[in-house]
Amino acid sequence: MIGALEELQKQAEAEINRAKTEEEILAIKTKYLGRKGLLTHLLRNIKELSPDERPGFGKRSNEVKEALSEQIENSIKEKASQKKSKALICEKIDVTLPGRGVKHGRVHPVVQVLEEICRIFMKLGFSTVEGPEIELDYYNFEALNIPKNHPARDMQDTFYIEENIVLRTHTSPVQVRIMEKHRPPVRILSPGRVYRPDSDITHTPMFHQIEGLLVDRGVTFGDLKGALTTFIKQFFGDATALRFRPSFFPFTEPSAEVDIQCVMCHGAGCRVCGHSGWLEILGAGMVDPEVFKNVGYDAEEFTGFAFGLGLERIAMLKYGITDIRLFFENDWRFLEQF
Ligand code: PHE
Repeated sequence: MIGALEELQKQAEAEINRAKTEEEILAIKTKYLGRKGLLTHLLRNIKELSPDERPGFGKRSNEVKEALSEQIENSIKEKASQKKSKALICEKIDVTLPGRGVKHGRVHPVVQVLEEICRIFMKLGFSTVEGPEIELDYYNFEALNIPKNHPARDMQDTFYIEENIVLRTHTSPVQVRIMEKHRPPVRILSPGRVYRPDSDITHTPMFHQIEGLLVDRGVTFGDLKGALTTFIKQFFGDATALRFRPSFFPFTEPSAEVDIQCVMCHGAGCRVCGHSGWLEILGAGMVDPEVFKNVGYDAEEFTGFAFGLGLERIAMLKYGITDIRLFFENDWRFLEQF
C-alpha cells in the first residue's frame, strides 16, 4: 500500500506540473485531496493493514497530503499572478497617445446671419413669423400679382407638387398670409427655406430667404430707404456705401434692388462683383395696390414696403465664401471657422 501511495504522489505531481490554469489545479485538488478524492480513498483502507504497519503508512500519507497541498497552493498562486501580469499587458493604457478631442457644435453661419438680421429689425419694431414651405400657387404667385402664364413666372423656376401646389420659390407668400389675417399696422419678418430648381456654385435647389413687410398709414419710399439703410450700415458696417437701383417685381411698385459696394474690392472691380464694384443684396419696393386688393386692404388708406433677401448670399458676402454648396455639406472643417 505504501507503493500505491508513492505512485499516487508521483502521478499527482506530474498532473500539477502539466496544469496550465488555476481551474485545472483546482480540479486536481478535488481529484486527489477532496472528500471523495483518491488520497482520501486510499487512507480509508488503512484498516486493511496490520497494526504495526498502520503508523508508518499514516505518517507517510500525511506527508504526501501536506506536500501535495503545498504544491497545489503554490501552483494556484503562480497561476493567479501569471493571469494578472497577462491582464496588465493586454489592458495597458498608453498615456502618450493623443487624446480624442471633444468637438463642440457651432451655430451654422446661415443661422448666425439670420439671427443678426432679426436682431437689427427687432429694434425697428419687427417681429418674426413663419409660413409653409409647401405652398398654394395662389399665395406663391396669384395673390402676389403673378397670374398663370404671366412672363414674370419665368423669373422664378418652380418645383411643382401638383398643378396648384408648389414648393415656395420665395418668402413673399407669407406677406399675403399675414395680411389676410391682420389689419394694419403690420411689421413682420419672415425667414425660411425656399426652393428653385437651380444648382451651381452660387445656387442650390433649397436656400433661405428673409422677408420683411411693413404696412401702415402714410408709409413712404423714404421709410423703406431709411429702414434698409439702417439695416445695411448695422450689418456690414457704417462705412458701407449702398445704392437703390430701379427694378421690377410684380408685387411692388415702385420696385428697387439694393446694392452695396463690393466687400471684396471696395468698388475697384473684381471677379466677385463682375467688375462693377457693386453687389446686389436685396429686392424691395412699395407693396403693389393689386396685392392690397387681394387681401382686402384699402390701398387709399394704407401703404407699405416689402423686401426680401437671400441669407446664403449675405453670408457668402460677409464671410468671403465663394461656393454656396459649402453651407450644406456639413464639413466640420468648414463649419468650425464661424
Ligand atoms: N420675393 C423676391 C425674390 O425672391 C424679393 C422681394 C421681396 C422683392 C419683397 C420685393 C419685395 O426675388
